[in-house]
Amino acid sequence: MDSTHLRPLLFLFLSAAVAATFVSATDHIVGANHGWNPNINYTPWANNQTFYVGDLISFRYQKQMYNVFEVNRTGYDNCTMDGLAGNWSSGKDFIPLNEAKVYYFICGNGYCLSGMKVSVTVHSLNASSPSSSAAAAALNATDASHTHGSAAPRLCTWPPAAATLLTLAAVAWLGI
Ligand SMILES: *[C@@H]1O[C@H](CO)[C@@H](O)[C@H](O)[C@H]1NC(C)=O
Ligand SMILES: *[C@@H]1O[C@H](CO)[C@@H](O)[C@H](O)[C@H]1NC(C)=O
Ligand SMILES: *[C@@H]1O[C@H](CO)[C@@H](O)[C@H](O)[C@H]1NC(C)=O
Ligand SMILES: *[C@@H]1O[C@H](CO)[C@@H](O)[C@H](O)[C@H]1NC(C)=O
Ligand SMILES: *[C@@H]1O[C@H](CO)[C@@H](O)[C@H](O)[C@H]1NC(C)=O
Ligand SMILES: *[C@@H]1O[C@H](CO)[C@@H](O)[C@H](O)[C@H]1NC(C)=O
Repeated sequence: MDSTHLRPLLFLFLSAAVAATFVSATDHIVGANHGWNPNINYTPWANNQTFYVGDLISFRYQKQMYNVFEVNRTGYDNCTMDGLAGNWSSGKDFIPLNEAKVYYFICGNGYCLSGMKVSVTVHSLNASSPSSSAAAAALNATDASHTHGSAAPRLCTWPPAAATLLTLAAVAWLGI
């Protein structure tokens, strides 16, 4: 049977599969449907999810009232700007979690003292994700790209390895 007619279709299918593997990074919406507001304890929210390198954390709030600062542990514990590492105020901020470490976020304008503070522990993708040794090796190979705070964090998590395998399979199968 002549498979020529099937090729465009298969190519589309494989492209879709590859695209799907590329967008598996999670967006963690702080406070879920409660958003970023005073008088909420964010610790149970943070404890109820697992954060991996390449994920996003997003804050949704009234921008006239609140904002977001990344500080260090001293700043988080005392509601100060100690260790200030970033600030956001759009009202809908998507912040990439590019490093395996503990991140500390607080609100300015005095609202940190009303509970607007959250800390999240970001895990490396290393052994904990369902990756093959090939994926681990590929991740290792691309490691340099995510330590720089890449502009496209979603593209440098483990899925590229899966995408590469899929593409190789397609090439072998279709003889293209
Ligand atoms: C924990 O997360 C799950 C799934 O995301 C959600 O259904 C559940 O309500 C959460 N529980 C708490 C206490 O936030
Ligand atoms: C702030 O928090 C740290 C612990 O993270 C503590 O050691 C320190 O005494 C606190 N107070 C000030 C003024 O830094
Ligand atoms: C946070 O940053 C402040 C000022 O930059 C520094 O004095 C303090 O030691 C830092 N705290 C931690 C826990 O690294
Ligand atoms: C907020 O961040 C911008 C850069 O993104 C910086 O220029 C500005 O000084 C920061 N503001 C404060 C209050 O840290
Ligand atoms: C990977 O995991 C091992 C142990 O499971 C750990 O020692 C190592 O530091 C991790 N590597 C990274 C880059 O997190
Ligand atoms: C990752 O790279 C380091 C050197 O950069 C090497 O020692 C290690 O064996 C590599 N791990 C894998 C799984 O390829």
